[in-house]
Amino acid sequence: MADLSFVHTHAPGDPARAPLLLLHGTGGNEHDLVPLVPEIAPGRGYVSPRGKVLENGMPRFFRRLSEGVFDEADVRARADELAGFVVEMREAYGLAAPVAVGFSNGANIAAALMWRHPGVFAGAVLWRAMTPLREAPAGGLEATPVLIVSGAMDPIVPAADVGNLALRLREAGAAVTHETLPVGHGLTRPDLDLARDFLATTA
Ligand code: MLT
Repeated sequence: MADLSFVHTHAPGDPARAPLLLLHGTGGNEHDLVPLVPEIAPGRGYVSPRGKVLENGMPRFFRRLSEGVFDEADVRARADELAGFVVEMREAYGLAAPVAVGFSNGANIAAALMWRHPGVFAGAVLWRAMTPLREAPAGGLEATPVLIVSGAMDPIVPAADVGNLALRLREAGAAVTHETLPVGHGLTRPDLDLARDFLATTA
């Protein structure tokens, strides 16, 4: 692995397809989502960083004040930092703009990046995402297809919150598909199927 600003793992893939940027949930690490790659995007390369914020020893991508209540100054700073890592990794490994694939806290930092750095991602899969920031996104997401998959029984993500996320991303120009599954916060087989179908038609 190249010595970059985030601990990460990387595997090359089909150079004709955008690589994935895998973003784990709270308490995960850079290895968590790797086993899903052959299922959702066979043949694609990936880069998977580990979140730098520790909450009781659990890695995350930004600080929160309590469950579902974010430290928004930290969200902004960490989104900017991760956008810098995307530039670094593209240069180090010779990669096109990645498609973000994030779960929970990883989906939230991916959304925050789209708020502040349109154009960094070629697309995004956001599993169990929330609205990352109260201000409106910067805009400029016209070229960005986004799949949001929520759980109707998710105890962490209120339906109104993810509805607002979809609306804000659409207002910023993104082509948003929002699916709601009859499940909770954890990932399920239908989450993988939706991601696979979406990624088959994305960058
Ligand atoms: C977050 O903090 O990003 C959300 O509450 C999701 C989580 O990590 O549990």
